[in-house]
Amino acid sequence: MRAVFEFMTWIVNIYLLEGFEADGDRRDEMATGANYGLRDEIRDFWSERAASFDEFPGHEIFSERERRAWHALIERHLGEAGGRSALDLASGTGVVSHLLDDLGFRVTGLDWSEAMLERAASKAASRDRRITFRLGDAERIIEADGSFDVVVTRHLVWTLVDPAAAFAEWLRVLKPGGTLLVIDGDFVSQGPLERLIARLERFAQRRGVLAAASGPALPGDLAARHRSILSRVHFKDGARAGDVAQMLTDAGFADITIDRRLGPIHRAQARAMPLTKGLARQVQHRYAIRAIKPSD
Ligand SMILES: C[S@@+](CC[C@H](N)C(=O)[O-])C[C@H]1O[C@@H](n2cnc3c(N)ncnc32)[C@H](O)[C@@H]1O
Repeated sequence: MRAVFEFMTWIVNIYLLEGFEADGDRRDEMATGANYGLRDEIRDFWSERAASFDEFPGHEIFSERERRAWHALIERHLGEAGGRSALDLASGTGVVSHLLDDLGFRVTGLDWSEAMLERAASKAASRDRRITFRLGDAERIIEADGSFDVVVTRHLVWTLVDPAAAFAEWLRVLKPGGTLLVIDGDFVSQGPLERLIARLERFAQRRGVLAAASGPALPGDLAARHRSILSRVHFKDGARAGDVAQMLTDAGFADITIDRRLGPIHRAQARAMPLTKGLARQVQHRYAIRAIKPSD
């Protein structure tokens, strides 16, 4: 009886959220108990992060300068929107969906976390945006072949369980000639500069020159879960741009461009971050990759 009540509550919640379309089949696959697996863990991790996700610089946008830098990156790779359809994969609270909407794309955001989608839907409503948000798995998309002109995804690739399958899906849902834009990074390995910054930070903190990091931080248990999940995903050693680009080629994408010119975005983000975090952001291996679906 309780299960029936919970299911009914879930259905009502979904239909109360503007533009939020139910995907019952996917939900059924999101198992619990004995079948609870890595994908469920990842989804639940993000659901728990949903409430505070937008408080973190680097997630939500904290200045017009940053917003302009994002718009410039998107336009550099996707050109003028002209009312084309865009799928924001793993849309989270809808930050990228809003950037695409600003530029004139017709946007659908897709995420498998209900908590993230609730935030996204209420944020879009409060800003009076016509963005559709859907519940679904970015590795197994239910949309028909050739549904979108562009597919954009930020900070999803590094956490994919089966990127090869995901990239094949993204190719499938793009129209022939359509464009994929991946924005991601290697969040595992630290380069020499990042290691140096971390060492200087520890040194300065020991000497009392620098206060312990301020700004929002993950509670200990979530940080530990994050490390545990990261140790088991495909890109457990870090999603390097070259490796991702090779997998996109293998999936059938063409004309692949790796763009490391994210400096204007990172400099704008750094202004809202503690000093060392902002410096580290500017030396990390972060990138955008544009890839085209061949027209045949
Ligand atoms: C780091 S957040 C990024 C959110 C958003 N793209 C942004 O940049 O603000 C990762 C998001 O990916 C979603 N996600 C992870 N794997 C997914 C999958 N296989 N299908 C759908 N969503 C997924 C999570 O629920 C979470 O909202």
